[in-house]
Amino acid sequence: MLTLTDLCYSYGAVKAVNKVSMVMPAGQITCVMGRNGVGKTTLMRTIMGTYRAASGAIRLGERDITPLAAHQRAKTGVALVPQGRDIFAKLTVADNLRIGLEARTDGLRKVPDDIYDVFPILKQFAKRMGGDLSGGQQQQLSIARALTGDPKVLLLDEPTEGIQPNIIQDIGAVLSRLVTERGMAVVLVEQYLDFVKEFGTSFYIMNRGQVVASGATSELTDAHVAEHLSV
Ligand SMILES: Nc1ncnc2c1ncn2[C@@H]1O[C@H](COP(=O)(O)OP(=O)(O)O)[C@@H](O)[C@H]1O
Ligand SMILES: [Mg+2]
Repeated sequence: MLTLTDLCYSYGAVKAVNKVSMVMPAGQITCVMGRNGVGKTTLMRTIMGTYRAASGAIRLGERDITPLAAHQRAKTGVALVPQGRDIFAKLTVADNLRIGLEARTDGLRKVPDDIYDVFPILKQFAKRMGGDLSGGQQQQLSIARALTGDPKVLLLDEPTEGIQPNIIQDIGAVLSRLVTERGMAVVLVEQYLDFVKEFGTSFYIMNRGQVVASGATSELTDAHVAEHLSV
């Protein structure tokens, strides 16, 4: 499991992540919610190591990974599916997936078949350019690329943003399988409430860089939504 203790990150004077403490257990989907600009993406990048925490700690199991650089964290089993997907438009689907192999510690050089079992469409489109896929297919590719590194913790930053409903359901089903079949810790940044209620286990709501509410997703109330989530 992933544990955050009093994690902080600032852009100059802006405390984008301010003393955030969270527990993200294996075998569960932990949702991070909140309006635009509250610090969700900054939090994901600080966990991944793209940004170095100003203070606080990130633990993976018993291990303190706070001192590690991003590529070292990837090798310990943390993977991020970034907001906006960030796939390589001018590379084929297969080559995009191969990039994910770098995070592996077993030296495997070939994309494992089970990746294509998770998203069969990617096998069919293996030779297409990433940029020629639909938005939903690109999101599936981005998730598959993260899985190619065989992570223990999968961070996803707004994976349903701008995606057609049938693919949103597919993504939810895949995340459920990853937690039940592989015991992964899935951390889902999500503004789409129905998706959180259907697939999420627990939630944290952020506001101005801080955690302002948390609980089981079954306990998410209209009051939470009115106060912290609706625009
Ligand atoms: N590169 C940056 N430089 C300065 N401020 C930033 C930068 N990225 C984000 N911010 C600010 O940090 C806050 C949190 O942003 P972000 O983590 O992207 O929020 P969210 O993902 O919840 O929308 C916002 O106030 C945003 O304007
Ligand atoms: Mg964001």
